[in-house]
Amino acid sequence: MLPSSSVHLAITSPPYNLNIPYKNHHDNLPYDEYLKWAAEVWRETKRVLVSGGRLCINIGENKRQNISYPTFSAFIQECVNLGMLYRGTIIWNKNSAIKHTAWGSWKSCSNPHVVPRHEYIIVFSKDKWKLEGDPKKTDLTPEEFIKYTRTVWEFAPETHSKVGGHPTPFPEELPYRLIKFYSYKGNTVLDMFSGSGTVGVVAKKLGRNFILIDNSLEYCELAMNRIKNEISQTRLSNLGASVGANANTGSSEKIEIIKQEDLKIKDK
Ligand SMILES: C[S@@+](CC[C@H](N)C(=O)[O-])C[C@H]1O[C@@H](n2cnc3c(N)ncnc32)[C@H](O)[C@@H]1O
Repeated sequence: MLPSSSVHLAITSPPYNLNIPYKNHHDNLPYDEYLKWAAEVWRETKRVLVSGGRLCINIGENKRQNISYPTFSAFIQECVNLGMLYRGTIIWNKNSAIKHTAWGSWKSCSNPHVVPRHEYIIVFSKDKWKLEGDPKKTDLTPEEFIKYTRTVWEFAPETHSKVGGHPTPFPEELPYRLIKFYSYKGNTVLDMFSGSGTVGVVAKKLGRNFILIDNSLEYCELAMNRIKNEISQTRLSNLGASVGANANTGSSEKIEIIKQEDLKIKDK
């Protein structure tokens, strides 16, 4: 179990309950069960955050067979109910070539459907707005600060082939912006649904410690390999926390898996 008040920033993208074939997760729960399952994770994340620590949840529109579930708004309400301070929502404009075949009723107002080209990043603080830290350990450039304070962020989604076949990786740009905007160098960043380990790769690049959790050993190994690759590229010496089973990284850095069971987050 992770110690209470030990994490400065949690960044995650949970399963969206869209029937994605993950290796060890049934992504097709009845909607109310899905929300309850996710709420357990937000509750536990609040416990491990330091006072002033931040939680960023990336979630898309949950749209299936023309039924939309307001998941991002349900997550906001749940986190507020837990006593988290709502910092706001960032709209990630993916501006991508998402298939455009399901308008509902072509050129008719009888039943047209909007087609999502965006996702949300909802952001919270625990207890207080301010995160204590050494101002010298902020690494935002003025340009980045101006860009990141805007509520619409534009960058392309990740392609699966780039990250070893994981079905739903997000691009490095997403945690890059959040880590720089919401944490100091040397802080600890957590991803509770780490998949291919994108948060760890970027945290490593940016000089943050990181903790990654996934319930699929295959994805943990994928994440471990990405991070080992990052380490061998940068040749940096101190790894804070990590993924993978005590693997030999070719250096003295220790890598270990944190299994999902340790956090008592249970699949239904
Ligand atoms: C949307 S993906 C995250 C992708 C990640 N952001 C990346 O860039 O690769 C969600 C992840 O949650 C994992 N997962 C599902 N149920 C879980 C659970 N109970 N505990 C931990 N991880 C779980 C899945 O294996 C999947 O890798």
